[in-house]
Amino acid sequence: SITNKQKQIIKSTAPILKENGKEITSIFYKLMFQAHPELLNLFNQTNQKIGTQPLALANTVYFAAENIDHLDVLMPQIQLIAHKHRALTVLPEHYPIVGKYLLEAIAEFLGEKATSEILDAWSATYNIIATIFIDLEKQLYHELGPNERDKGFISLTIIKKEKVASGPIVSLTLERHDGGKMHNYHPGQYITLRIKKGNYFHNRHYSLIQPFDGKTYRIAIKQEHDCEPKGIVSNEIINNYKEGSTILATLPAGTFMLVENASHHLFIAGGIGITVLSSLIQELHKQGKSNSVTLIHCVPTESHAAFSNQLRSILPRNQYHLLFQGRHLLQGLIHEIVKPDTHVYLCGSVPFMNKVEDYLAQYGHPSSQIHTEAFRPSLSLIKN
Ligand code: HEM
Repeated sequence: SITNKQKQIIKSTAPILKENGKEITSIFYKLMFQAHPELLNLFNQTNQKIGTQPLALANTVYFAAENIDHLDVLMPQIQLIAHKHRALTVLPEHYPIVGKYLLEAIAEFLGEKATSEILDAWSATYNIIATIFIDLEKQLYHELGPNERDKGFISLTIIKKEKVASGPIVSLTLERHDGGKMHNYHPGQYITLRIKKGNYFHNRHYSLIQPFDGKTYRIAIKQEHDCEPKGIVSNEIINNYKEGSTILATLPAGTFMLVENASHHLFIAGGIGITVLSSLIQELHKQGKSNSVTLIHCVPTESHAAFSNQLRSILPRNQYHLLFQGRHLLQGLIHEIVKPDTHVYLCGSVPFMNKVEDYLAQYGHPSSQIHTEAFRPSLSLIKN
């Protein structure tokens, strides 16, 4: 627990730590990986390099500190992170390790300003958040059922690998052949794939691209070869995994989902963001609600529009808009389509999502009706 005095200390020191979050968390990761190199099997090295993950962890701790009297406002974010942790097989025993090195990093950064009062207050804050995560994650592991093996990485067989669009974007259909059960999921969820490259495992989340068919998981991967650093996992899978290969994965997780009983759903996808939105659209189609759907998909060219044939077959012409580049068109189109009761689902690159969120904010669309799925650590998007 935390005393009122400690809350005061947290509130007065949070701004300093927030200003320097990047630096502190860089120290933190350096110290932690020195002592526990095995944790490099869990953390995304690319996010480390480009700095998004350090910020995500720091941001969460600072938000929690700022909202220490009403943590419930953070619950949707905390749920999302707990799902990612479970998908990556984060365990209760990891929390004291992270706590220890986070505290050491704060101490190292503050130098002689780090009084034991300040450090104790931060330690208490960390413990409160850690307890919330541990409890939530315990529940998520429990929901995976009694089979212990299902709580970790299992082996799936690639039964189909096909190119579905330029990019290239490749889809994999996966089956389980170890006698275990393929768990049901809700559209919007993802599975986490793990490959070995160099000395460590690398893990990535991939959205499931269609509602559950009872026996397979299907995902789509965009080969990331133009960016720096190159997509370690996407390149490895696309170049070296074939039909018949097995791949490590955890069972479905994630909190992104359809709003029940909404009268109008607008889906806005940038490029590969169509993967997860297509799953939601197919679900609505299955429920006989295609009429409530409008889709805008922004792509460089027609050949980049994954699943366009399938989507055309379930959506009437005036409910499916393919836009090539041209952001101006996008803004006008959104303005035309969005009604006060519209629920908007947004997925794409970070700049794309920021742009669309700005448009929606300009029209005063309520943020409670905007649902986003980021293929990057989500809290690093928060703009304050
Ligand atoms: C991801 C916060 C504890 C391992 C994340 C993310 C946040 C976060 C905000 C980004 C989620 C997203 O993708 O949107 C925290 C907080 C913790 C905590 C506040 C403590 C209270 C831990 C522990 C571990 C861990 C104990 C295991 C050692 C990871 C990993 C990721 C992650 C591997 C995936 C991100 C990546 O690979 O770059 N965490 N976390 N976290 N967390 Fe934690």
